[in-house]
Amino acid sequence: MLKEEKKAHLVLPDGRDIQLDVITDNMGNHSIDIASLRKDTGYITYDPGFMNTGSCMSSICYINGEKGILRYRGYDIEDLVQNCDFIEVAYLLIKGVLPNTKERQEYTQLLNKHSLLHVDMRNFFRSYPHGAHPMAILASMVASLSAFYPEMEERDPEDNIDITVTRLLSKMRTIAAFTYRQDKGYDFVEPRYDYSYCENFLNMLFSSPVIDYHPDPVHVKALNQLLILHADHEQNCSTSAVRLVGSSEANLYASVAAGCCALWGPKHGGANQAVMAMLNKIISDGESVESVVEKAKDKNSSFRLSGFGHRVYKTFDPRARIAKKMCKEVLEAGHAQDRLLEVALKLEEVALNDDYFIERNLYPNIDFYTGIIFHLMGIPQSMFTVLFAMGRLPGWIAHYLEWRHDPYQKIGRPRQVYSGPELKKVIPINER
Ligand code: ACO
Repeated sequence: MLKEEKKAHLVLPDGRDIQLDVITDNMGNHSIDIASLRKDTGYITYDPGFMNTGSCMSSICYINGEKGILRYRGYDIEDLVQNCDFIEVAYLLIKGVLPNTKERQEYTQLLNKHSLLHVDMRNFFRSYPHGAHPMAILASMVASLSAFYPEMEERDPEDNIDITVTRLLSKMRTIAAFTYRQDKGYDFVEPRYDYSYCENFLNMLFSSPVIDYHPDPVHVKALNQLLILHADHEQNCSTSAVRLVGSSEANLYASVAAGCCALWGPKHGGANQAVMAMLNKIISDGESVESVVEKAKDKNSSFRLSGFGHRVYKTFDPRARIAKKMCKEVLEAGHAQDRLLEVALKLEEVALNDDYFIERNLYPNIDFYTGIIFHLMGIPQSMFTVLFAMGRLPGWIAHYLEWRHDPYQKIGRPRQVYSGPELKKVIPINER
């Protein structure tokens, strides 16, 4: 990171000419350093949605939205998807380097060792009403881990952060699978020491005493790839939530529970469910994709094409490109025809050739395809965001840890532009 010689000048209404440092990062992007603006001038900046605000310095993830580039710790997403499994990528994000064979083996064993849930925690699952949203269960169960494994609170957190991180990474997979089994009314399936992370998850979802189930290698590969694609995306809504909660020195479990809640919304992690709902509706209503695209353009309608557009990518989302390929692989391996994929491809074609979408740089995002892949793997819609959360977990953890070692380390506390009334006097209740 460099600090440039050149300064940015800001002329205030009272005539003061303020000089601000310009920071140029390793990729040549410039930022204006306003950290002391309020102290020096009394002014703050107004930036709803934080469209122009860099909230931290981070070395974890690099995105170039104009060129469609995504890298974790310097490695291109395509390279990682082709050459690593999810656990290697999780290791990379959390520890900063890719593991060698021995390290990967040891890490996998450690994850398996910590995959069981405390028996009292398992009982919690049975208390949720039938039909409870899996994200509600996931978020509360992740927060509950701090009650069952409170060592982070009790001793110096630096002594046991490694074990806490490993526990969370491993147990979240078990929680996610149990959430599904609870919803189905099935018995829980224990994790197995001889399965990999993704095999174990699929086995915990689908194993049955009356069916000879073995995780399909194509599905294991697809799950690995999907989790890698979701593993980090710099300062998105849920990661910012994790950092913000973590900045109050809340423990890792509590901070990640906040990330789960942020991810839940349809504008973030819930978007793949919205895509499936949209595709299913098109099929059941017999509506043409052309009229759906017209509806998405109509400013009098709140309808948007789910799975299209992205706050950062103004070209094809690189993850969407990989997911589209994977979608076809899973489909071909199952020798299936899928009406949903057919409609999705048609919708994509019509939108990408439409001026409205071209002018606004609206391309399919990752969620446009992931729902279809999960569906082909037999995973129900209600679980889609849970899988997204499983994938995003290493990223959340990496950002939480990065904040812990950030010398700045201030509690996150934005300011506001007040738009309420001036001082008012309370009128006694009987006179109001
Ligand atoms: N369908 C139709 N029009 C759209 C869409 C869409 N999916 N997305 C954006 N637009 C239009 C907006 O109406 C706006 O038009 P205008 O300039 O005429 O007013 C313009 O494109 C810019 O849109 P914004 O909402 O300002 O863009 P922003 O960056 O704030 O939003 C977002 C990005 C939320 C992803 C948006 O594109 C959207 O709602 N997409 C659908 C939901 C979705 O797929 N979310 C998943 C995001 S990816 C993820 O979380 C992993």
